[in-house]
Amino acid sequence: MNAQVNYDVLVIGSGAAGLTLALHLSAKYRVALLSKQRLQDGSTWFAQGGIAAVLDEMDSVESHIADTLDAGAGLCHPSSVRFTVEESTAAIRWLIDQGVDFTREGEDYHLTKEGGHTHRRIIHSADATGRAVHSTLLMKVLNSPNIDCFEHHVAIDLIRQPDPEKGRFRCAGAYVLNKNTEGVELLQAKAVILATGGASKAYLYTSNPDGASGDGIAMAWRAGCRVANMEFNQFHPTCLYHPKAKAFLITEALRGEGAQLKLPDGSRFMERFDKRGELAPRDIVARAIDHEMKRLGADCLYLDISHKDSGFVREHFPTVYSNCLKYGIDITREPIPVVPAAHYTCGGIMVDQHGCTDLDQLYAIGETTFTGLHGANRLASNSLLECLVYARSTALHIDEHLESVQSPRRAADWDASRVTDSDEDVVISHNWDELRRFMWDYVGIVRTRKRLLRAQHRVKLLHREIREFYANYRITNDLVELRNLALVSELIIRSALDRRESRGLHYSLDYPGLRELAMDTVLVPENYANQRQFI
Ligand code: FAD
Ligand code: SIN
Repeated sequence: MNAQVNYDVLVIGSGAAGLTLALHLSAKYRVALLSKQRLQDGSTWFAQGGIAAVLDEMDSVESHIADTLDAGAGLCHPSSVRFTVEESTAAIRWLIDQGVDFTREGEDYHLTKEGGHTHRRIIHSADATGRAVHSTLLMKVLNSPNIDCFEHHVAIDLIRQPDPEKGRFRCAGAYVLNKNTEGVELLQAKAVILATGGASKAYLYTSNPDGASGDGIAMAWRAGCRVANMEFNQFHPTCLYHPKAKAFLITEALRGEGAQLKLPDGSRFMERFDKRGELAPRDIVARAIDHEMKRLGADCLYLDISHKDSGFVREHFPTVYSNCLKYGIDITREPIPVVPAAHYTCGGIMVDQHGCTDLDQLYAIGETTFTGLHGANRLASNSLLECLVYARSTALHIDEHLESVQSPRRAADWDASRVTDSDEDVVISHNWDELRRFMWDYVGIVRTRKRLLRAQHRVKLLHREIREFYANYRITNDLVELRNLALVSELIIRSALDRRESRGLHYSLDYPGLRELAMDTVLVPENYANQRQFI
């Protein structure tokens, strides 16, 4: 379908956040929904464990809040945590009303447990919760006459326009690469929403699908928006270690149901690191595994659930069971080889409780944002919850304000008159590999100042090369992603250098202690949208 140039609302991203927002607005507004791949290709589809929410009579809002604050190591914003948790029951009710088929235990929903939770509060659809949520919401979106979906459309950059009435800049749309035609199209709307997911592709080993290249964070930064807490990359403790397996997660819910972490000699070790053992928060478990792997020179450690009833394992974890079996591992009989991998971007574009960014008419929701919920370490299964809760509050805000917003002026078309086709694509793939390798080696689970400075030096060199490429050659998806990943990596490194302590997911051998005052790392771009008054 050819893009109509003007919409009421432009949603960039078709994960849990983007789909939810689009559905909340589609009764009243014309919505364009973009995905740079197929509509189901973001992280949401792959979510396994479930969604944390207060659903059990024995559980409470206060307890979920306390667990979130505890995992967040002093950096969560209490008001964001309270807001999200208080909305959790309604968010799940909404999903059930849409038709999501969560796993039941008799009359009730089955609730599982994950690291850092003191109650069973994770509602799930076996071990493929993301697929159940995404397919249900996508069906509704595809049936909505007011939502136009554009697959294989990559937003390159946002359009900033002066708003004479307010004397400030506003967002007026985006330039979008149509991968089907290889042309760049202009899409404009009264409100633009970034729902572009995280940036874990900055690392060589990740649980994330291709495409998690931090595009939203990079676009918002270039448009003058602040970002915060980019140093807090969450590493999931248990991804499958197998030469042929690409980015396959072994859900934390296995540990919630009794799986044990073991060394190559079969002994357990987590109790030495935390009294909560396998169910300590994720930063602690990932660091313990990293420590033991380095101490023993081991390529991987093991996660063992073979002591549980095999029927129970197959029923609760059909995806993990069948996927491991493909690689010759029967999880009902033998331990699973596992390693940590980059999993979640805790920092991101700064937003308030209505998804408002620093640039008027630009909103952001989901993993691309920094809402204050996660602090220095996200509590397991709080991410999908954040997508749902903030998508709704953002939709409500847009609905309350959109009528008084003028349509943006028609922006200039994309100028491709001075660029040529590149015959040097190898430069892009080489730079991708180099970037992701040094981010893994120098900006990983355990950091030092010296390694961070090395990484900073490398990323600056890469930037220069990418800028030259961007100015002279026709734009491609790989170039867009590399440009964004390099920028996001630079922001991660800057933030990590700024944090002179070890807190949550940021662990530095040079600064092993904790500062008394917990502070966010806020980075302000040179063209900061709130500062620059143009009249
Ligand atoms: P995504 O679902 O990642 O969607 C991003 C969308 O943006 C995609 O449609 C993509 O095509 C689009 N996009 C990106 N850039 C552009 C661009 N430039 N132009 C156009 N489109 C663009 N969290 C939980 O709470 N519970 C779990 O059990 C859980 N399990 C997980 C398991 C795995 C393997 C992974 C990877 C993550 C898991 N998470 C889990 C985290 C959670 O899934 C994600 O944080 C969440 O799904 C993010 O949703 P989102 O809508 O923000 O982005
Ligand atoms: C998992 O199932 O282990 C992932 C849960 C999450 O990332 O929140």
